[in-house]
Amino acid sequence: MTFSTYTSFSVRAALVATVLASGSNAHLVAFSKGMFCKNDYGTADAPNAAAAINPLWNLTWTDWFLHGKCRQYGPPAGEFLNIPANGNFTVEIASNRAWTTLSYNGGKATDWPDGKVHPNNWSTNIVDANFPPTSNGCISSPNMHAHNESDAAGTAFAISYNNDINTVNVSDFTVFSVLPNTPYRRIATYQVPNLPACPSGGCLCAWAWIPNHCGQDNMYQNAYRCMVTGASATAKAVASPVPAQWCESDQSQCIVGPKQMTIQFQAQGNNVKLPPGFQKDGSWPSPGYNAKMGFKAGAQTDIFSSVTAPVTPNTCPAAAPVTITQTVTVTVGGSTATSKATRRSMFGKRNVSFAPEK
Ligand SMILES: *[C@@H]1O[C@H](CO)[C@@H](O)[C@H](O)[C@H]1NC(C)=O
Ligand SMILES: *[C@@H]1O[C@H](CO)[C@@H](O)[C@H](O)[C@H]1NC(C)=O
Ligand SMILES: *[C@@H]1O[C@H](CO)[C@@H](O)[C@H](O)[C@H]1NC(C)=O
Ligand SMILES: *[C@@H]1O[C@H](CO)[C@@H](O)[C@H](O)[C@H]1NC(C)=O
Ligand SMILES: *[C@@H]1O[C@H](CO)[C@@H](O)[C@H](O)[C@H]1NC(C)=O
Ligand SMILES: *[C@@H]1O[C@H](CO)[C@@H](O)[C@H](O)[C@H]1NC(C)=O
Repeated sequence: MTFSTYTSFSVRAALVATVLASGSNAHLVAFSKGMFCKNDYGTADAPNAAAAINPLWNLTWTDWFLHGKCRQYGPPAGEFLNIPANGNFTVEIASNRAWTTLSYNGGKATDWPDGKVHPNNWSTNIVDANFPPTSNGCISSPNMHAHNESDAAGTAFAISYNNDINTVNVSDFTVFSVLPNTPYRRIATYQVPNLPACPSGGCLCAWAWIPNHCGQDNMYQNAYRCMVTGASATAKAVASPVPAQWCESDQSQCIVGPKQMTIQFQAQGNNVKLPPGFQKDGSWPSPGYNAKMGFKAGAQTDIFSSVTAPVTPNTCPAAAPVTITQTVTVTVGGSTATSKATRRSMFGKRNVSFAPEK
C-alpha cells in the first residue's frame, strides 16, 4: 500500500490556480505560549508575527514539517503550552499575533481571528458590505476556508514524547484532541485525555488543520513546546500512531486507536490515500480532522498502550489494537503478522526516553 497518492492532481492544480487568482492570502494558526515562530524567524519580540499562518502546499518534508523553518525558532527555555491531563487548554486562532492577547496587551483582539468585528454567527448567508465573500463564495475574513461555523473542517492537537526538535518526525506525534467546527472564533478550547507526564524538558505538541476546500487545498501545522500538567503516575503511555484513513461512507474503515497527523497536498510525505470521486458534499475528498477520517470530537481516549508510563527508556510501548481496512483486528507487537504490522514498521518507530518518575 502506498500513502503518497494524489487524487485528481491535475484537477486540483487547476482549482488552485483559480483560487490564487482570487487573491485570498491571510490564513490561520493557533497562537499560544510555547509556540515556535511566535516571533517569526527571530528572537526579538515580534508583536505582528505571522510566519506560521502561511499555508503549506506542494512542499518537501523539510519545508512543511512543523512549518519548516519555524522548527529553528522555538520558544525561550522554560516556556511551555500547558496541557492539563483530563482537562482542557485554550489557544487563540488568528491570522496574526497582533489579534491575540500575546500582543498589545490584547488591545487589538476581538472575538474573531482577524481582529475585526463580525456578526455573531458570521456566515456567507449574512451580507456584510465590508467583508464580501471570496470569489468561491466563502467567508473572506477571517480566511477560515468555510461558509460558516458548521462548515469549518476541524482542527487538532498532537503530542510527541520525543522532545528533540532535530530528531522528531511525523510518526512521533499522536493526535490527542480534535475540536470540530474550527477554525472559526479566536478562542479555541481543546479537551485533553489522560495523558502521562512528559520527559524532563517537556513534550512537543503540534496544531494541525486541513480545510475542507473553500480555497486552495493545503494544510497547516505548527509546533509548540508543551508540558502535560497534573498527570497521574499510573497514566498509560501513548502508543505509536498510524496514519488515519478515509472512512466517510464506511465507518468500519476508520482507524480506531492512535492516529498520526494527516499529511496531504505536499510534494512528499503524504500519508493518506484518498478515494477516487467525490465526498458526500460533492467536492473532492478532503482529509480533515473529522469523522471522514475517523476522528471523534474532543479528547482522543483510544490512543493509549497497556503500558504504564514512564516505560523503560528507548522501548516502544505496545500498540493498542487497531482495526484496519480489509484485514482483521490485530494487536501489533504480537506474533500475528499482517499488512498492518508492515505499515506500523514503516510509520510507527519511536525512540523515546522518559524522565524518571518524580
Ligand atoms: C510542485 O513542486 C515541484 C517542485 O518541488 C514543481 O516541480 C511542481 O511543478 C509543483 N507542482 C505544482 C502543481 O505547482
Ligand atoms: C475547561 O476547564 C475548566 C476548569 O476545569 C472548566 O471550568 C471549563 O468548563 C472547561 N471548559 C471546557 C470548554 O471544557
Ligand atoms: C449562534 O451560534 C451559537 C452556537 O455557536 C448558537 O447557540 C446560537 O443559537 C446561534 N445564534 C443564532 C442567532 O443563530
Ligand atoms: C454552512 O455552509 C454549508 C456549505 O455551504 C451549507 O451546506 C450549510 O447549510 C451552512 N449551514 C448554515 C447553518 O448556514
Ligand atoms: C521523517 O519521516 C519521513 C517519512 O514520513 C522521511 O521521509 C524523512 O526522511 C524523515 N526525516 C527525518 C529527519 O527523520
Ligand atoms: C535510539 O536511542 C538510542 C539510545 O539513545 C540511540 O543509540 C539510537 O541511535 C537511537 N535510534 C534512533 C533511530 O534514533
